[in-house]
Order: sequence, then structure tokens, then C-alpha cells
Amino acid sequence: MQRRTPLKYFYMALHPRVVVLVVAIDKEGKPNVMPASWTSPVCEEPPHIVLAMWRENYTWELIKESREFTLNTPTADLVDIVWKAGTTSGREVDKSKLLNLTFSRSKSIKTPIIEECIAHLECKVVEEIDVGESTLFIAEVVEAYGNEEYMVRGRWDLRKVEVLEHLGGRVFTVSTRVIYPRKK
Ligand SMILES: Cc1cc2nc3c(=O)[nH]c(=O)nc-3n(C[C@H](O)[C@H](O)[C@H](O)COP(=O)(O)O)c2cc1C
Repeated sequence: MQRRTPLKYFYMALHPRVVVLVVAIDKEGKPNVMPASWTSPVCEEPPHIVLAMWRENYTWELIKESREFTLNTPTADLVDIVWKAGTTSGREVDKSKLLNLTFSRSKSIKTPIIEECIAHLECKVVEEIDVGESTLFIAEVVEAYGNEEYMVRGRWDLRKVEVLEHLGGRVFTVSTRVIYPRKK
């Protein structure tokens, strides 16, 4: 039997979603970190992604100014750090210190990447669309790299790595099984 879900939970139908840690810098180059799960590839050629960002986030302010950010993929063992980063604001605390993460230089942009993460996208904003309380930052991916030892033929090897996914609220999960469609 189908039951009507309160509209405020509509997005649960689109979860679980892979979590990324978004890094953006202030005018002095100091990094701030927040998790995001509302991201998506939008175009393969040239490579573009979209990041849906709540306008109240400090990160929103930073990206508006710097026009760039990095997306960093955490593994499941970073869940406490992810939660801390998602329940505090860079307006009140210095998350570059609070989270104990290691920042290192990006290849093509000023914003650093997070070393503890297993994949990194360096992104330059090309367009913005305001939707309600959020802004969609559409960005070109100018560099993409990750830990090859966790991959088979360009895909995550789920026997070797636990990619963190967000189910909603305080609940996270990991994918542990791969399945294939039947061959004709
Ligand atoms: C797992 C997780 C996923 C999140 N995804 C998003 C997202 O996609 N977009 C967004 O604007 N906020 C998202 N948030 C909320 C921000 O991370 C949160 O508001 C954070 O405190 C903002 O930090 P800042 O003020 O330092 O930028 C998410 C939080 C968590 C815990």
C-alpha cells in the first residue's frame, strides 16, 4: 500500500547519497569544511557538477567570493568528523583546526584538498541558480583524482573501501554488495 509522505521528507526518496566534504577558502586562504550529499554530475564533456548549497551556510559565502571549491570523498571511518563538520559553522569555529584534517595543495586551484579523503574534485564555479533557500553552484571540474588502490576499472572496489553515504539526519550507511543485470 502506498502512503503519502509528508512533503518535507520528499528528498528521502533520493537517499542514500554519497557524502563529500566541501572545502572553500576565505580571503586569507584559510580553509573551511562542510559535508554535502546534494551534489551530482551534470555533464561528462566538459565535466561539470552541481552542488546544492543552503544560503545560510558559511561555505556559501566563501564560494560566492572565491568562485571555487574542492569536493573530497570520505570513507566510513570519518563519519564522526563528517558529523562534526555538518553540525558546526565556520562562522563560529575554526573547522580547519577543530576537525584535525590535513589540507594539501590542489593541482589547479587555490582551495586545498583533504588528504584523509580518497577522491578529490577541483571545481570552478561557472553558473549559479537560486532555488528557494538554496543556490545551485554549477562548476567545471578542472582536476579529478583518487586512490587507485581502492578502484577496479575506474569504479570503487567495495571489497576494499567503504564509501560513506548519507541516509538522512544522523543516519549513514555504506554499500557492500555489487549486482549485475542479467545478460540477454
Ligand atoms: C551528511 C550531511 C550532508 C549535508 N549535505 C548538505 C548539502 O548537500 N547542502 C547543504 O547546503 N548543506 C548540507 N549539509 C549541512 C551543512 O553541512 C551544515 O549546515 C554545515 O554546518 C555548514 O557549515 P558552514 O556554516 O561552516 O558552511 C549536510 C550535513 C550533513 C551532516
